[in-house]
Amino acid sequence: MPEEFLVARNLHKSFNGNNAVNGVSFSIHKGEVFGLLGPNGAGKTTTIRMLTTVLEPDRGDIEIGGHSVRQDAEGVRALIGVCPQELALYVELSAMDNLVFFGRMVGLNGKEAKAQAMSHLDLMGLADRAKGKVDKFSGGMKRRVNLAIALMGHPQFLFLDESTVGVDPQSRNNIYETIEGLRDEGMTILYTTHYMDEADRLCDRVAIMDEGVIIAMDTPHALKSQIGNPNQVTLEDVFLKLTGRTLRD
Ligand SMILES: Nc1ncnc2c1ncn2[C@@H]1O[C@H](COP(=O)(O)OP(=O)(O)OP(=O)(O)O)[C@@H](O)[C@H]1O
Ligand SMILES: [Mg+2]
Repeated sequence: MPEEFLVARNLHKSFNGNNAVNGVSFSIHKGEVFGLLGPNGAGKTTTIRMLTTVLEPDRGDIEIGGHSVRQDAEGVRALIGVCPQELALYVELSAMDNLVFFGRMVGLNGKEAKAQAMSHLDLMGLADRAKGKVDKFSGGMKRRVNLAIALMGHPQFLFLDESTVGVDPQSRNNIYETIEGLRDEGMTILYTTHYMDEADRLCDRVAIMDEGVIIAMDTPHALKSQIGNPNQVTLEDVFLKLTGRTLRD
């Protein structure tokens, strides 16, 4: 049996009486890339915010690396890196200073923060722009800085909420290859995306969410097999079949 690194049980969260997350349970094994997919407003980001200790669930429990989110949020935070859907950057600072700042926030000393910052900027193809102010960066570069920040402190578990949204194919490839590299090094990753081809290539298993609940969860291959020949149908076919074609927002 693979080791369960994250366990979420019966998560609920409502805003002003509307159920954003309505009884979500799943577990993620160590070293697994787990895709959380779903239409706009399905409850993916709300789920991630609960898993990453930002938002307290109305009901339900979460354990990451054996630490309970309710009882030991600090222990959870020490294990995780978070790349949020909304960019979280200080645009007045340079890329380097952003990374060093967030490195210090996760407890690195100045020297170690600088060393990791340089290495992560290099990984994201930004080494030569280290001293550039982030407000002068393109959308793709800002996304890459956002991901580089999430890697500060070498987390064991990475949450990536739409890391490739709104970026050009070059940045998308760089981000994509970085995630593949992290996966190959054994990082455990929860990944959300609206690009079904990405999820199919990258994820060991995916959960498809709609209206606050998980409506399917399996390997991309098994999900495709449920609706046809897995070599001919796509994960997008599965997604549309399960979630329908009605617009959500
Ligand atoms: N802080 C909040 N206050 C009120 N409603 C919220 C809040 N956060 C989320 N919601 C609502 O909860 C529902 C789920 O939102 P959530 O952001 O989790 O969806 P999502 O699956 O991440 O969507 P997207 O693909 O657009 O990012 C939506 O109806 C959203 O409007
Ligand atoms: Mg979201």
